[in-house]
Amino acid sequence: SKFVFVDKDTCIACGACGEDAPNIFEYDEEGLSEVALDNNTGTGAVPEDLEEELLDAEEGCPTESIKVADTPFQNKAANE
Ligand code: F3S
Repeated sequence: SKFVFVDKDTCIACGACGEDAPNIFEYDEEGLSEVALDNNTGTGAVPEDLEEELLDAEEGCPTESIKVADTPFQNKAANE
């Protein structure tokens, strides 16, 4: 499985991820991206049929703000 969250400290609201993966990303009121599936916590597994668009979005982000891993980001809150 894949897990993902957006580092909103580095996201520049460019909007590319929502184009690549509209089923995964949504935008807050400032236009910053967040993962819709799990409240941007990085703890919910991305459905397998969305993994390809997830990786497209990860590659396409100009600021490398899309963090992807094979295991849940359990310590994300502590890292911010
Ligand atoms: Fe932000 Fe990168 Fe998406 S800059 S809007 S996370 S493509």
